[in-house]
This record gives sequence, C-alpha cells and structure tokens, in this order.
Amino acid sequence: MGHRRLSHRLLLFVLFGTLALSVSSQKRPILVNFGDSNSDTGGVLAGTGLPIGLPHGITFFHRGTGRLGDGRLVIDFFCEHLNLSYLSPYLDSLAPNFTSGVNFAVSGACTLPQFVPFALDVQVRQFIRFKNRSLELLSMAGSGNFIDESGFRSALYMIDIGENDLLLALYASNLTYSPVVARIPSFLAEIKLAIQNIYQYGGRKFWIHNTGPLGCAPKELALHPHKESDLDRIGCLRVHNDVAKAFNKGLHKLCKEMRLVYEDATIVYVDIYAIKYSLFANYKRYGFEAPLMACCGYGGLPNNYNVKATCGQPGYSICRNVSRAIIWDGVHYTDAANHVVATSILSVRYSTPPVKLEQFWPA
Ligand SMILES: *[C@@H]1O[C@H](CO)[C@@H](O)[C@H](O)[C@H]1NC(C)=O
Ligand SMILES: *[C@@H]1O[C@H](CO)[C@@H](O)[C@H](O)[C@H]1NC(C)=O
Ligand SMILES: *[C@@H]1O[C@H](CO)[C@@H](O)[C@H](O)[C@H]1NC(C)=O
Ligand SMILES: *[C@@H]1O[C@H](CO)[C@@H](O)[C@H](O)[C@H]1NC(C)=O
Ligand SMILES: *[C@@H]1O[C@H](CO)[C@@H](O)[C@H](O)[C@H]1NC(C)=O
Repeated sequence: MGHRRLSHRLLLFVLFGTLALSVSSQKRPILVNFGDSNSDTGGVLAGTGLPIGLPHGITFFHRGTGRLGDGRLVIDFFCEHLNLSYLSPYLDSLAPNFTSGVNFAVSGACTLPQFVPFALDVQVRQFIRFKNRSLELLSMAGSGNFIDESGFRSALYMIDIGENDLLLALYASNLTYSPVVARIPSFLAEIKLAIQNIYQYGGRKFWIHNTGPLGCAPKELALHPHKESDLDRIGCLRVHNDVAKAFNKGLHKLCKEMRLVYEDATIVYVDIYAIKYSLFANYKRYGFEAPLMACCGYGGLPNNYNVKATCGQPGYSICRNVSRAIIWDGVHYTDAANHVVATSILSVRYSTPPVKLEQFWPA
C-alpha cells in the first residue's frame, strides 16, 4: 500500500515535474536582425546622425524614428505578431531595450564594405561583441534586461540584405546584366560567412529574406531613361529584376547547401520577391493605386520622383491617401504595403521550409 502510494506520488511528481520543466523551458521569442533599410528601425540615425525625420514616420509613429517609410517595417509587424516590443537598434546609446532582441540593420548597408560603414561583416562582429558583453553584464548583475545564454540559443537570426550591392553594381555597369551577375557570388559569400559566424556563436535558427523587384521602384524608373522594350509586362525595369532573380536563385541554393552542412540548424528562406512582385502586378486586388509612383516626392506622372526634390526635401508633397500607395519615397515601402508583405510572409506560403514564425518558440 505504502509503496504504491509512494510510487503514485512519484508519478505525480514526475508528471508535475515535466510539466513545470516544459513551462520553464518555454522560451520567449527573441529576434536578432541584420540588414539594410528594409529592416532598419533606427540604426543609421543612431550610428551616423543622418537626419531622418518627418515626413518619414508620419502615418504611424507621427515622428521620425529613423525608419525609412511612413510607418512600420515588415520586422515591426513580426514583433507585433509575436507580442514583442519593437526592436532597438544596437547602435542606440540612449535607453535601448534589448529584451525582445536586437537590430543591427543599417540603411544603406551592403554585404560588402561600401559607403555606409556597417556592412554585413561589421554587423556580425557587433553581434559577437553584443553577445559577449550581454553575458558579461548578466554575470555581474545577476539579472536585468539582457538576453541570456538560453535566449541567444533560442533566438531567431534574421538576414535581409543584398539589394544595395545589386543597385551599386547596376550603376557601375551602366545597367548591364552580366557584370552584375559576375559579382553576385561575392555578395553571397558574405552572407554565407555571416551564417557561419552566427552558427559558430550559437545561432541555430535562421530566417533569410531574398531581395525584392528592384526594377519596380519609382526611383529606378525615374533615374534611368528607358525604352518600352526595357520594361517587363507590368512596367518594371527588366534588367533590375533579372539581377534580383539571379541573386535570389543563388541565395536559395546557398540556404540549401547550409542546411546540409548544419544539420542541427533550421534555415528558412523567404521569397520576398514573389510577394512584392505580386503587389505591383495585382495592386488593385490589394487596394492600392498608381503602383509605380512614389507617394512622397515631386513631379507627378509617371513616377512622382525627382532627384532634386525627394521625400523630405523642399518641394515634395505627399499623396492624398498614403494607405493606397505601395512605395513611399521612391524606394521604400509604405506601412500599408509592409503590412500586406508581412501578412504574406506569416502565411508561410513563401517560406522554404514552411515554418511559421511562432513555431520557433513552441509553447
Ligand atoms: C499575442 O497576444 C494575443 C492576445 O493577447 C494572443 O491571442 C496571441 O496568441 C499572442 N501571440 C503569440 C504568438 O503569443
Ligand atoms: C523592455 O521591454 C520589455 C518587453 O516589452 C518590458 O517588459 C520592459 O519593462 C522594458 N524595460 C524597460 C527598462 O523599459
Ligand atoms: C568575452 O570576451 C572576453 C575577451 O575576449 C573573453 O575573455 C570572455 O571569455 C568572453 N566571454 C564570453 C561569455 O564569451
Ligand atoms: C549607358 O547605356 C546607355 C544605353 O545603353 C548609353 O546610351 C550610354 O552611352 C551608356 N553610358 C555609358 C557611360 O557607358
Ligand atoms: C484611404 O484608403 C484606405 C484604403 O483603401 C481607405 O480605407 C480609406 O477610407 C481612405 N481614406 C481616405 C481619407 O480616403
């Protein structure tokens, strides 16, 4: 009897114990992000002091936050989806809050060192230093608003970069395909190195965005005089989109290779190109209008983009209804467009393998 009761109690303990264990091992989501203006939540502002103020931020934050756009970026919608506060830039020296993660993205950044001193390898070095310093401070303080060892282990490492490398290569080659494509392996090598370094420092979950249809940007259309034959069926510059597709093909292949090498890692590749191209091709279905016009700019048809009066410079104006525009300033997407993009990403229909964002931290 007594023995049976004991084993019963033991069983209860074991049941309760595993329950408690599974609860305490339930990790809250943490995002660690690397990239360019597509995901810069204030890095370039903090790091370079470049004045990025209103009208950027006008529809959602009602102030300049350093984000390029009228409101939220895709990564902000991810944070909302995961019930996290928005990510602080690593470079923010005034009251950052790193409990939800950290953002190393800086507008203008390339995979390779260029005019912005925060290329991908610099961002990864900053991460290594950030992790080291966080753990050091945590061991001294005992607790605090830092990411701990297990937080870094369960964090999702996101990379969204490459667009600026492609654009610079396009300008350097006077918009010819082959010289740009010849440079793509050097861009991909940087991304590979970043994944390797993050893996070496404990990262096991990766989320890689490919690059969007650069040739649909009003700025590119306005800056490069073109013939009808230079455009694709929806009016975007073909060579821009072709180099983006070549880059994405290589990135997809790289992700496949890395999955074979790092068997204990999850590497999700997200087809941002397909999502964004569909916005331009089917804009009416999403409630957008004038897809190839910048909302904030000058000049009217066809692109409302003038390099002498870009968004925020004297002479610019803002379109009547920002939530009907895809592109904000000629390059960056509106809050409304980013919302649609984020919703498509979260549907996992564009992800390989099809892992849902919240699945990285199972309850
Ligand atoms: C976020 O919070 C909402 C409302 O509190 C809840 O319904 C939802 O499941 C939460 N999402 C995640 C991913 O925890
Ligand atoms: C940091 O953010 C977390 C999560 O949103 C919040 O609980 C915490 O109070 C914040 N810390 C500070 C110092 O604001
Ligand atoms: C942080 O870096 C210092 C100096 O390189 C090193 O001695 C230390 O072990 C590192 N700490 C952690 C937690 O990685
Ligand atoms: C660039 O290409 C255009 C169109 O093909 C041509 O007219 C122009 O002369 C080229 N410019 C340079 C600097 O090669
Ligand atoms: C702006 O567009 C959105 C989306 O189409 C619509 O819901 C809203 O009523 C419009 N606002 C104005 C002031 O026209």
